[in-house]
Amino acid sequence: MIKAPILIQDGVPQAVSLSERVHWIGALDPNLRTFDIILKTANGTSYNAYLVQGSDGFAVIDTVKESFADDFFARLESVARYEQITVIVLNHLEPDHTGALPELMRRAPQARLYISQKAQTMLKALLKQTELEFTTVLSGDSVSLGDRSLQFLHTPYLHWPDTQCTYLPEEYTLFSGDVFGCHFCDSRLFNDEVGDFRFSFEYYYAHIMRPFKEYVNHALDLIEPLLPLQTIAPAHGPLLRDRPQRYVKRYRELSQTTLLNETSGGEKTLLIFYISSYGNTRRMAEAIYEGAMAIEQVRVSLYDLEGSEIEPFVDLIEGADGIIFGTPTINGDAVKPVWDLLSSLAVINLKSKLGGVFGSYGWTGEAVRMVEDRLRGLKLRVPIPGLRIKLIPTDEELELCLAFGRELAQELVGLRQSKIIDMADLA
Ligand code: FEO
Repeated sequence: MIKAPILIQDGVPQAVSLSERVHWIGALDPNLRTFDIILKTANGTSYNAYLVQGSDGFAVIDTVKESFADDFFARLESVARYEQITVIVLNHLEPDHTGALPELMRRAPQARLYISQKAQTMLKALLKQTELEFTTVLSGDSVSLGDRSLQFLHTPYLHWPDTQCTYLPEEYTLFSGDVFGCHFCDSRLFNDEVGDFRFSFEYYYAHIMRPFKEYVNHALDLIEPLLPLQTIAPAHGPLLRDRPQRYVKRYRELSQTTLLNETSGGEKTLLIFYISSYGNTRRMAEAIYEGAMAIEQVRVSLYDLEGSEIEPFVDLIEGADGIIFGTPTINGDAVKPVWDLLSSLAVINLKSKLGGVFGSYGWTGEAVRMVEDRLRGLKLRVPIPGLRIKLIPTDEELELCLAFGRELAQELVGLRQSKIIDMADLA
């Protein structure tokens, strides 16, 4: 049986060795239940920080949340003196990793800070100092610690614009920041010893990395040439020393399109979601569907939001080229299932997808424009004003619906004329 690491001895937090020259100096936060407001953390999290000992200097990689600074400094002091620290690397400036930075800089003023280029303004804001000494680095840059060195990988948006990874080639160890991390607190620390954290790993990916799949794939392009790695040392959760390549492979899988659709040869996908209280918005949806279906090279699907849970739709939307929402107006608002779906879309990248909105209304019809605003806020293109129809659509108004569907489908395949008719004004 593998012996669990000793994190505290005689009441004093201790560093844990990943190797003779690399040590975990982080902190455990078992009582956290929500991270960044939205993430659930069923057994807490860890703030992983590391010390690398080179023959010509020591490097601290990341720090911890401010309220855990005492643990961090005690662990650091168990393996280093402050005057030995020559380098501080910040892979990510979110406060859970920089809370102890100001005090570390005070204790080790000779240490040079290494950050990504995009971290500069954040660092100044964080430290409330304009006169700061630091070095910005990009992929290909490195810093020597004598017989150890650190190489930097530019991996932005994982999970903020500033994020980077740091590689220690002499030990085949990647300090990956939030990448490959998860909110899972277990004092056994290493992935071959801790409890089952698969759910946390996937959950973390889904909420932190999924909106930035394109950037994940870019990061993997930089990381995969480093394989086989001996250890992946992330900023949260278990340290991945047992077959770390599995986690790299899993990230690549998760960053592919989730569902394969049946389109081919340049065909575009257009999804229409609606919900209807008296059948009027449904009639509009069916006419829009019919109109869109008339356009070649567009694969159109129609869904009633009453008929499914939200999650499968999120997957579908991620892979779609265009999305149209139909909602009635009730009490001056769009209805809850529509807002529920829209609020679930923050985990995917919607930039430049085509959007459209329609709906029947009784009195004022605010819902369509509210949802349009939301789609624009989510960075969809909404080239045609939303279509609103008062109560039961007439035959003439159903013609407008057909035209609305047709135009949106034409827009998807680049066949739409540029004329813009505000059909909302006709309703
Ligand atoms: Fe662990 Fe994005 O901070």
